[in-house]
Amino acid sequence: MPSRSPNSWRGPDVAAGERLPEPTDERPAGQHLAFLGAGTMGGTIARGLVAAGRDPRTIGVTSHGAATREKLSRELKVLAFDDNPSAAQWADVVVLGVKPAQALAVCDEIEPAVGEGTIVVSLCAGLSCALLESRLPQGTAVIRVMPNTPASVGAAISGVSGGSSASDADVAAAIAVMSAVGKAVVIPESQQDALAAISGSGPAYVFYFVEALVEAGVTQGLARPLATELAVQTLLGSARLLDETGTHPTLLREAVTSPGGTTAAALRALDDRGLRCAIQDAVAACARRSAELGAQAAADAGSR
Ligand SMILES: NC(=O)c1ccc[n+]([C@@H]2O[C@H](COP(=O)([O-])OP(=O)(O)OC[C@H]3O[C@@H](n4cnc5c(N)ncnc54)[C@H](OP(=O)(O)O)[C@@H]3O)[C@@H](O)[C@H]2O)c1
Repeated sequence: MPSRSPNSWRGPDVAAGERLPEPTDERPAGQHLAFLGAGTMGGTIARGLVAAGRDPRTIGVTSHGAATREKLSRELKVLAFDDNPSAAQWADVVVLGVKPAQALAVCDEIEPAVGEGTIVVSLCAGLSCALLESRLPQGTAVIRVMPNTPASVGAAISGVSGGSSASDADVAAAIAVMSAVGKAVVIPESQQDALAAISGSGPAYVFYFVEALVEAGVTQGLARPLATELAVQTLLGSARLLDETGTHPTLLREAVTSPGGTTAAALRALDDRGLRCAIQDAVAACARRSAELGAQAAADAGSR
């Protein structure tokens, strides 16, 4: 197992040219977590963990250019590593936060530095656990996670699937990380494409719906700020009603739908336009595309 002393890291208050802190064997208590690629999603999760009270000295970050990691290091007081292998060697849990196209190259880079017992949590859409396992030391616990953008306000839902060497404890470690930005559910990896089509891309469908509702309000003569406030608060209130009461959506919809009334007329118009079928088709198209991209990534990896 490689030594876990950091050999290439930069603390939060170290200006360029200033002497770097010495590598030290003193490790703050708790699991050490390295985000390899701390951009939008990696940075969001790191922020969530620090906001939840995790010691920032147990979090390391890397990025392609120095600016991203140093900015995050200044903001959160986490450790910025100059390279991925040093961060992977230091960490107990490695989070792959790069784009899927860069993930396999990063795995190849860190392979010699990944110690026995290190958990690799991948945020990379479409990349299977088996593909990542094939580029890491045999027996490495790989966990595939699909978060969504409400992570940035602590309201994500993430789908978590363990690979062939991942134990329940490894999956629990990934859930603990993702819980810093919302909820997490464990699903078989075979359902990851379906999950991506509901919650991964789901925020886009919701924003699209809100956009359309706002424009419809404007068409009805409402000022855009008012139409926006009405639409957003309606979405928020309805989501809370669903979540807090646990009532089935059909019952909640029926409660707003008086026989022969205004809502019934509106729903009839939505049915006439085939909204329900359009949603089925959209989700199926998304799941299909997710599977295609995953297969493409595996084929590209095989041809390298
Ligand atoms: N954003 C989402 O809503 C979302 C949702 C679900 C899943 N994901 C997954 O999350 C992953 C990251 O997506 P993102 O939206 O956060 O992308 P992003 O904002 O572009 O972040 C990617 C980060 O990776 C860094 N990077 C690039 N090459 C690297 C390398 N060789 N070594 C270390 N770091 C490197 C980049 O550094 P620089 O900053 O220096 O360029 C950047 O900070 C993707 O795999 C995506 O599938 C994202």
